[in-house]
Amino acid sequence: MLARSFARVASKRVAPRAATAVRGFKTVQQQQNAEEIRAGKVPIVSYKDGMREEIELPVEQQNGPVAPAGADDRKVAVPLEKSILSKLNPTMAKFTLPGKVAVVTGGGRGLGFNMAQALAEVGVSGIAIMDVQQKLGEEAARELSEQTGVDVRFYQVDVRDGGAINQAVSDIVDHYGQIDVLLNAAGIADSNIKAENYDTEMFRRLVDINLTGAFLVAQAVGKQMIKSKNGGSMILVASMSGSIVNYPQEQSCYNASKAGVIQLTKSLATEWARHGIRVNSISPGYMDTALNRVPALDAQKKIWIDQTPQKRLGAVDDLNNLAVYLASPASAFMTGANNIIDGGYTLW
Ligand SMILES: NC(=O)c1ccc[n+]([C@@H]2O[C@H](COP(=O)([O-])OP(=O)(O)OC[C@H]3O[C@@H](n4cnc5c(N)ncnc54)[C@H](O)[C@@H]3O)[C@@H](O)[C@H]2O)c1
Repeated sequence: MLARSFARVASKRVAPRAATAVRGFKTVQQQQNAEEIRAGKVPIVSYKDGMREEIELPVEQQNGPVAPAGADDRKVAVPLEKSILSKLNPTMAKFTLPGKVAVVTGGGRGLGFNMAQALAEVGVSGIAIMDVQQKLGEEAARELSEQTGVDVRFYQVDVRDGGAINQAVSDIVDHYGQIDVLLNAAGIADSNIKAENYDTEMFRRLVDINLTGAFLVAQAVGKQMIKSKNGGSMILVASMSGSIVNYPQEQSCYNASKAGVIQLTKSLATEWARHGIRVNSISPGYMDTALNRVPALDAQKKIWIDQTPQKRLGAVDDLNNLAVYLASPASAFMTGANNIIDGGYTLW
């Protein structure tokens, strides 16, 4: 996403002067200012002790390279200095996860990877990434570990494969000794398929990955959390499509699968509250991830943006702070909640 940063570059003192303008017409000065704004500058005029001061703020149109089609914006995670932890007041301390271990499915790229970076930034000491794509997963593990010093392990696992998930979870517990957080972001999307033409096998495959996969991972991690008697926090990535029907594309299967994830979240939350396990879902709106950065969606993206009160797609790291909140003691009394984060899309 385009980012703007402002910096004070120049300042000059001039005598106060009166600007004359007829309603509807601009003074020469105002016209010049308007041109400067268009040229990427913001003029500011202030008065102190009767003196007029004029400064210009340059407006940078971007903050780093724009990711090409089919790629994510890459951000660098910055670890929290350990010495800061002891200085945090109680409210800020609750937003940290020192020494905790997280499992992140779909952490190879996109929203899952970015949320894994955020967990690493608030003190998590171990992260296990599960993703079906070997190259992406390995690269993500390397980057995460290099950027933050966290002990990261990558498991090439398809979330449809219960046996592989159980093996991976057992190895994670052997290696790290515990699992405190589960973030299930693995998922796929099909869209622009009319219900009357939906291929049954495709329908089953998507439900298998988005819904059954979320259940299999939650079940395997849940068993470990129950056994450990330490509780934990689970975050299942659903979608606003689980609560509303998207427009204009037809995507009945995706919508149904995400509605299932929301209801699964609520069911698990009630069953496992007695074990100290909290289960919440995140329902993002349209996000600017590789999934949506394809030319075929350009026309629809214009409609999505227009239908979003904030007039933009979500940035790839826009879920990060919500994920930290849900994973950490900051949300201790929250369970079974579906958190819609969509720039206001579902309000209209
Ligand atoms: N991008 C959006 O606009 C948006 C909106 C709402 C919800 N979501 C949801 O957020 C989650 C992440 O989306 P994203 O945009 O980052 O997508 P993405 O495609 O960039 O990332 C998804 C990751 O999941 C992995 N994955 C896919 N199938 C898998 C499987 N069977 N087993 C294991 N890993 C698998 C992929 O390899 C990939 O690394 C998904 O569940 C998606 O449905 C995305």
